Amino acid sequence: MIFNPRVKVVEKNQLLPDMVHLKFEGENLASRAVPANFVQIKVARGLDPIFRRPMSIHYADGKTFEMVFRTVGKGTQILSKAEPGKEFDCIGPLGNSFRLPENNEKAVMVAGGVGFPPLYFFSRFLIEKHNFPKDNIIFLFGMKTVAEKPMAGDVLSLGIPVEFSTDDGSYGFHGFVTDLFEAHFAKNMRQEKIRIYSCGPNPMMKRLSQIALSFKLPCQLSLEGAMPCGVGTCLGCAVKKRGENDYYRVCQDGPVFNAEEVEL
Ligand SMILES: Cc1cc2nc3c(=O)[nH]c(=O)nc-3n(C[C@H](O)[C@H](O)[C@H](O)COP(=O)(O)OP(=O)(O)OC[C@H]3O[C@@H](n4cnc5c(N)ncnc54)[C@H](O)[C@@H]3O)c2cc1C
Ligand code: FES
Repeated sequence: MIFNPRVKVVEKNQLLPDMVHLKFEGENLASRAVPANFVQIKVARGLDPIFRRPMSIHYADGKTFEMVFRTVGKGTQILSKAEPGKEFDCIGPLGNSFRLPENNEKAVMVAGGVGFPPLYFFSRFLIEKHNFPKDNIIFLFGMKTVAEKPMAGDVLSLGIPVEFSTDDGSYGFHGFVTDLFEAHFAKNMRQEKIRIYSCGPNPMMKRLSQIALSFKLPCQLSLEGAMPCGVGTCLGCAVKKRGENDYYRVCQDGPVFNAEEVEL
């Protein structure tokens, strides 16, 4: 981890009206991140907003790193206006990573909306760094509607099997991505050894955990709750340990947890 290094935007791509892809370079160890690592970025100088914003690393190649984010509030609005040349303070890489699948396992990525970046990075990492066969990865991508499909461009470029669900049925499977997973599992995966990797909104990952636990499937979740300090001091990111009266700090102990470790 390195504190307050400057990073500079070198590329910007507006994927959707409310979704931006930024590439950064700088003297920053975030460029050496592994999948599920995240950064804490200070979007403006001064006290407003005071807290850094956590963002998953979408890809890192040793010299640059990328993020994809949806504009939801003040911090992401400010970040979304950054153009090439703009500099930020950025702490990272932070957090743990996904555990690798075994060679005889199929890696099933279950992404909810803008939860896809760590799963894209991990899929690419498996292919490029571990020679994992592309056919042994399947990417289930949940969107609200077909208009969101441009966000899936990088995932589609990997050449792995990708299936979509939309909440409104305008593209792919009609329903939630967890329904798509269940349908897939019932039809194609019962005889296979699979390992699930997921990132998305908490209700989605809660449902996926229930399914994984009921079928005793290994399932790793990259959690994206509120994270005020990002370095273990404020307890604002606490998540309950399953079956215990105790909590994990997502920023220190995660963001990746096994489904059986946490109660969402
Ligand atoms: C480890 C980690 C990785 C993340 N990676 C990404 C990513 O790759 N891409 C991305 O788009 N977002 C990601 N997020 C979420 C992102 O950090 C928040 O969307 C952002 O901090 C919101 O800041 P804001 O100032 O724009 O919104 P705020 O003004 O803080 O909030 C605006 C609205 O968004 C809601 N909100 C705030 N934080 C979150 C959150 N974490 N999840 C859901 N809703 C939230 C608030 O409840 C409020 O309704 C990640 C979060 C974590 C913890
Ligand atoms: S965000 Fe403060 S302890 Fe995790």
